[in-house]
Amino acid sequence: MRLLGTLAAGVLLHGALQAQVKLPAVFADAEKQTEVMLKAVPEAREGKADLVSPRTIENGKLKLVASRDWTSGFFPGVLWFLYEYTGKSEWQTQARAYTANIEREKTNAGTHDMGFKVYCSFGTGYRLTNDAAYRDIIIQSAKTLSTRFNPKVGCLRSWDHHKEVWGFPVIIDNMMNLELLFEATKLTGDSSFYKIAVAHANTTMKNHFRPDFSSFHVIDYDTVTGAVVKKNTHQGYSHESAWSRGQAWGLYGYTMCYRYTKDPAYLRQAEQIAAFILKHPRMPKDLVPYYDFDAPGIPNEPRDASAAAVIASGLYELSGYSQQAKYYRNTANKIVTNLTKSYRSPIGEDFGFILLHSTGSKPSNSEVDVPLNYADYYYLEALLRGKNK
Ligand code: GLY
Repeated sequence: MRLLGTLAAGVLLHGALQAQVKLPAVFADAEKQTEVMLKAVPEAREGKADLVSPRTIENGKLKLVASRDWTSGFFPGVLWFLYEYTGKSEWQTQARAYTANIEREKTNAGTHDMGFKVYCSFGTGYRLTNDAAYRDIIIQSAKTLSTRFNPKVGCLRSWDHHKEVWGFPVIIDNMMNLELLFEATKLTGDSSFYKIAVAHANTTMKNHFRPDFSSFHVIDYDTVTGAVVKKNTHQGYSHESAWSRGQAWGLYGYTMCYRYTKDPAYLRQAEQIAAFILKHPRMPKDLVPYYDFDAPGIPNEPRDASAAAVIASGLYELSGYSQQAKYYRNTANKIVTNLTKSYRSPIGEDFGFILLHSTGSKPSNSEVDVPLNYADYYYLEALLRGKNK
């Protein structure tokens, strides 16, 4: 009896996510949805060969994007995650086909989104297959991204658009692209990528955060002096507000930086960001945030399931490094359970997207309360990370 009790407790502790969410069934549903998506994509393409990846639903139609879109790598990543969980060769075949569509981005120096595009597709594929061709594409992409680094500022430039508003904009989202650079140093032994990533993370830590560890969205820099010119938002409620996905990118980003550097300052930063998010009085009970923590109409504001998915995935990783492991893991379990129970699309609907209720950009009334490919990507990543916790 005693042995049985001990075993049962062990299983419960070890498989806490699995006790709340039946992973085989959730992944079986994700496979069904993705099969729907694979049928919907060719129909939505309507002969436009440059449209390669599904992004969202717009005006009742499936919206596809070209490889240059910042979200083009997420659907290939979803396919790789299905391959990772199921081991089925069909998913690898599809993942390879959709990943190949992104390859041309390796020389596109016009954006900082290289990590999102190339690392979520080729990077995930490389982790699972060790394909040497993928390795070369990751390295070339890191070289291209590095050209956007300005040593005076100490950051990679994020956007080239809105030149009339910002001279050298850096957005908190850019923390996510550093993973590609850290990996490129691991693959090549060339420390220049690592040094750029560390400089960017340090400059961002200095200038993007408020005393409460919430972050601004956009910091504009003077490239002559390196000084901060403006602290703005683009997708949040206001310049002074806390845009939820931005807080999620910061949490995930500094946790990932700690993985590669073991710099305790990054761990502390990630923990402080987590505290801001998780203890926020306007965080809903189900831990799926409104699009902005300071949105004036809360509780009648749209949620952002994508932010919740990024937060959950980041917390699972953070739980592997922190003294507060149990708290982070349990919180991630709660988020993933709530997303699974209340935010999934019914099977066969919504063109095969997995999660509903994400918000792209409320201020421009774009992609409000819709499925988004990156919500699905980080949700599946969180499920896979939670599986072994
Ligand atoms: N990186 C753009 C966004 O989070 O919407």
